[in-house]
Amino acid sequence: MIKLGVFGVGHLGKFHLNNWKEISGVELVGFYDPDDSNAQEVTEKYQLARFLDPDTLMDACDAIDIVTPTPFHFAICEAAIKKGKHVFVEKPLAHTMEEARGLVKLAKESNIKMQVGHVERFNPAFLAVKDLELNPMFIEVHRLAQFNPRGTEVSVILDLMIHDIDIILTLVKSEVKAISASGVAVMTDTPDIANVRIEFNNGCVANLTSSRISMKRMRKMRLFQKDAYIGIDFLNKKSEIIKLKGPRDLDAFSFDLDTPHGKRTIAILNPQVPEVNAIKMELEKFRDAIVNNTPAIVSEVDGYRAMDIAHQILTKIKNASINA
Ligand SMILES: NC(=O)c1ccc[n+]([C@@H]2O[C@H](COP(=O)([O-])OP(=O)(O)OC[C@H]3O[C@@H](n4cnc5c(N)ncnc54)[C@H](O)[C@@H]3O)[C@@H](O)[C@H]2O)c1
Repeated sequence: MIKLGVFGVGHLGKFHLNNWKEISGVELVGFYDPDDSNAQEVTEKYQLARFLDPDTLMDACDAIDIVTPTPFHFAICEAAIKKGKHVFVEKPLAHTMEEARGLVKLAKESNIKMQVGHVERFNPAFLAVKDLELNPMFIEVHRLAQFNPRGTEVSVILDLMIHDIDIILTLVKSEVKAISASGVAVMTDTPDIANVRIEFNNGCVANLTSSRISMKRMRKMRLFQKDAYIGIDFLNKKSEIIKLKGPRDLDAFSFDLDTPHGKRTIAILNPQVPEVNAIKMELEKFRDAIVNNTPAIVSEVDGYRAMDIAHQILTKIKNASINA
C-alpha cells in the first residue's frame, strides 16, 4: 500500500482527492493546506486528517501529490525528493526555468518517480488516436477559456498553452527550429491571449492560439499529414480522421472527389473513444510507475521540455513588446 499525502486542496486538489479515494493500492494519509476554510471543508467532506506541518505529512508518506499554485511547486518538490518521496506535481512543473532545471537534476540523482500533471495525455479523445501513425506536417490548435482568476499567477502560455505544447512535443519527432509569438495582457499582468508559431527541423509547423478571456470554450487540435487529417476535440472528447479510403475502411462513411489525379474516395472515420476519467488514469499511472518501478508516463523531463518551449515563447512576446 502506497501512503500518499496531498498538498493543496483547492479546486483541482479536491478532484484529485475524489480520485485517490477510488484508486486501489493507495492509502490517503492526509493533506496540508494553509487555507483554513478550504481545509475545514475537506476535513469534513472527506474525513481526512489535516496536517499543520508539511514536513510531518511528508515523513508519514511514501508519495506526495502537489496541487498548489505554481509558485509553491518547487519548494515542496525539492523537500519531498530530498526525503526520498515519490512526487506527482501539477503542471507547469515549476515557476522558473532555474527551478525546473533544479528539479530535473534532483530527480535524476534520486531514486524516486516523478510525474507532471499534463492530463491531456490521458484525454480520451487523444487516447483514441495517439497510437495511429501520426506524422503531422501542420498543426492548428485553439485552446480558449472564459476568464477565471484561478491560474492567473502565471501567463496563459504556462496556464493553458503548455498542455498543447506538451502534446505537440510528443507527436513531432523533431527538434524545434524557430518560434515566433505575439501575446497581449488584457486582464492580468501577463499575456492572457497569445498566438504562436513553432517550426520544427522536419518542416512541421504548429500554429497555437490560447486565450483565457474568451466568451466560449474550445480545446481543439487539428493535425494535417500527407495522407490524413486528424481532429482531436479535447473538450467534447471526440476525434475524427479524414483520409483517402483504404482497404480497411470498408464501413467508413465515404464520398468521391474529382482531383487532378482522377477520382479519389475520401473516408471519414470516428475512432472509438475510450470511456476513461483522465485525472484518475494519470494518478493510476503514477501509482503503477511506483509499484512496477517503471518510468513515469509524463516525467519531469517532459515537464521541463514543455516549460522550456513555454519560456522561449514568453521571451519572444516580451521582446516583441519592448521593440514595439
Ligand atoms: N492539469 C490541469 O488541467 C490543471 C487544471 C487546473 C489547475 N492546474 C494546476 O493545479 C494547481 C492548483 O490549481 P487550482 O486551480 O486547484 O488552484 P486553487 O487556488 O483552487 O487551489 C490551490 C490550493 O493550494 C493551497 N496552497 C497554497 N500554498 C500552499 C502550500 N504551500 N502548501 C499546500 N497548499 C497550498 C491553497 O490554499 C489552495 O487551497 C496549479 O499548479 C495549476 O496550474 C492544472
